[in-house]
Amino acid sequence: MVETFLVTGGAGYVGSHLVLSLVEQGARVTILDNLRTGHRAAVAPGADFVEADLADAATLEQVFTAQRFDAVFHFASLSQVGESMRDPMRYLADNVGNGIRLIEACVRHGVNRFVLSSTAALFNVADSRLIDETALIDPQSAYGDSKWMIERALHWAGRVHGLRHACLRYFNAAGADPDGRLGEDHRPESHLIPLVIDAALGRRPPLDVFGDDYPTRDGTCIRDYVHVTDLAQAHLLALRQLDHGSLVWNLGNGNGHSVREVITAVERISGLTVPFQIAPRRPGDAPALVAASDRAKAAGWQPVLDDLDAIVATALAWRKAHPEGYGN
Ligand code: UFG
Repeated sequence: MVETFLVTGGAGYVGSHLVLSLVEQGARVTILDNLRTGHRAAVAPGADFVEADLADAATLEQVFTAQRFDAVFHFASLSQVGESMRDPMRYLADNVGNGIRLIEACVRHGVNRFVLSSTAALFNVADSRLIDETALIDPQSAYGDSKWMIERALHWAGRVHGLRHACLRYFNAAGADPDGRLGEDHRPESHLIPLVIDAALGRRPPLDVFGDDYPTRDGTCIRDYVHVTDLAQAHLLALRQLDHGSLVWNLGNGNGHSVREVITAVERISGLTVPFQIAPRRPGDAPALVAASDRAKAAGWQPVLDDLDAIVATALAWRKAHPEGYGN
């Protein structure tokens, strides 16, 4: 039987990669996306597309009435840490309000599987410990807290209404579809790897390295970059695991790379020089965030593009082929 899924934010970066995997598996997919940060060109052929905001309750109701979904994947959200610290109420109202509206629609329409795109921004770990699912939740941004509030709403929807849910906390999603069909195009771009690549390609001014006085091996911040296609695979696996109950997974490769190491990797893969300068620290940045993903791996998650060079190579290939990203 063909499975039917709703993917909110399916025209966005991670969401579009998941939609591609679902469509390739023969699933029927409806995307709900307001295209505020997503791209129409990132919608996989074969997926149905509804351009709407989750705050549009009437359209949401229509979408749930038009067909019965086997599960909902929820990506749509505001997702800039820095922006959330300038306008925290907007982040809380929008992300939490939309999340709750979507959960309520699931409950009303008898959809009992829900997969949430969550984040490592839930954590605030000062030392170099690997971060597993039992680490203290202590969001340092309104963005991180908005995701935590949706996780809590899911907890209650599970407890009271039996909604099975998977909270997938990505560390640093990176890279592009290895076959070159999709890539990363945020506007404005704030993520390290696309910024380093564009600096190397001469499409941007020199990169600002935000701080080189952190207590790390070279003074720059360490992050766990995880390939977007491996994240998509984790969603498919999490969906199956929901047959056994709700789950929370931290998703990363367990390898930290500093900002300087990312610069060196881009130089190595591209053969170009990355112009950069040291700039002040960016508020809210933790020195090191590296995942322990033992739970997901015990359930069968096997990242394939799990080294930094492979991640950078796919990102570079997409950017070279799409200098304007998805265009205008
Ligand atoms: N960085 C720079 N210069 C830049 C951009 C980034 O030095 O121009 C540094 C940052 O300071 C940080 C690292 O590169 O140390 C990675 O920064 P990103 O902005 O790419 O990613 P973050 O780790 O800040 O945030 C990402 C996602 C968030 C998510 C978070 C969870 O963007 O949505 O991971 O850890 F919440």
